[in-house]
Amino acid sequence: MKILVVGTGAREHALVRALSLDPTVTELHAAPGNPGIGALAQLHPVDQLDGNAVADLARRVGADLVVVGPEAPLVAGVADAVRAAGIAAFGPSAAAAQLEGSKAFAKDVMAAAGVPTAEPRVATTIDEASAGLDAFGAPYVVKDDGLAAGKGVVVTNDRAEALAHAAECLAKPGSRVVIEDYLDGPEISLFVLSDGVDAVPLVPAQDFKRVRDGDEGPNTGGMGAYSPLPWAPLDLVDEVMARVARPTIAEMARRGTPFAGVLYVGLAMTSKGLRVVEFNARFGDPETQVVLPRLATPLGGVLYAAATGTLGALPSLEWRDASAVTVVIASGGYPGAVRSGQPITGIEDAEALPGVHVLHAGTATDDDRHLVSSGGRVLSVVGVGSNLALARAAAYAGVNQIDLPHAHHRNDIAASAGDGPLV
Ligand code: GLY
Repeated sequence: MKILVVGTGAREHALVRALSLDPTVTELHAAPGNPGIGALAQLHPVDQLDGNAVADLARRVGADLVVVGPEAPLVAGVADAVRAAGIAAFGPSAAAAQLEGSKAFAKDVMAAAGVPTAEPRVATTIDEASAGLDAFGAPYVVKDDGLAAGKGVVVTNDRAEALAHAAECLAKPGSRVVIEDYLDGPEISLFVLSDGVDAVPLVPAQDFKRVRDGDEGPNTGGMGAYSPLPWAPLDLVDEVMARVARPTIAEMARRGTPFAGVLYVGLAMTSKGLRVVEFNARFGDPETQVVLPRLATPLGGVLYAAATGTLGALPSLEWRDASAVTVVIASGGYPGAVRSGQPITGIEDAEALPGVHVLHAGTATDDDRHLVSSGGRVLSVVGVGSNLALARAAAYAGVNQIDLPHAHHRNDIAASAGDGPLV
């Protein structure tokens, strides 16, 4: 099977790495990819938001399957363009990707499907936003209705900060904000594969969204993750499938916009039970980096089944009895303005350590073909071990080998995962 992966991040590097270990995968291509992905796949400098260009490339390389990684190409209809060219695509249609593309749409689907979530108020003016903040009180939760690369949500006790975020979101033409009750309790990510009808869960993971240790500082795209979650209830996955994933997938099919791809269910384990914090229409980053190393079933066949309506015929997924922890190395300044073009060294030394591999995100090669940083999140260092403590030790041993001037990372990823939930 020949597979084309669309995207540039560590999530796509994790997908390509897992696909490269599938014996049925004979050729890997990426558009546009990154230098790390380039070690495993042929790179093609194609605009990932241009559906026709991606479909043309898929045709040219004879791809049997196109896997669309990030949300922006999905919302732009790249999976639709690939399917229209007669090629199997893993990733929802633009219409179904609205589950991530619009928070208000997702809330509407959840209400129709009876999915537990915080009650929302949708505001289109600053006065409505202000009234919403007062209706719910602190801590205030303000979400940009549209895509915002992980920076659309502000949770704060400071009313002025909440209102300022609402004003910033509403300044964009035609925009809305969603204001809702704060959901207490630890958060969990569960990825559910669907072909539009059937649904198959992967294993839960937890990510660390705030930039600094102790969950301090602003939200980021994610600074680290781990899996499994020893503290999570044993019936968690069954409950999420019964109360969230299956009703949502059924509701999307009922609306005539079946959801085929991966439904990322972001959950809070609140004192009142589980509640959906958000849906995304793609794999999470960095959670994918810790879920895929645990999957024993070859990934290519699984994604192909989801893309071709045959998930129901797929044998049960098999999982390794292993734990995984990833730590993100970010550029100085991230999640604000970052210093790019900094030299990166030590990746080979990190990967020489047992259980360690390094995934690229914001990397590039300079004119002398040296590896340099080119974005906010630069690398995901992954440690895999027979338990979380060993996986964590491996990940941080890898991080310690890598040098990137002005970089920063969190030191507390999975630090107390064995003791109880990290919130
Ligand atoms: N880790 C959060 C996300 O992928 O949106």
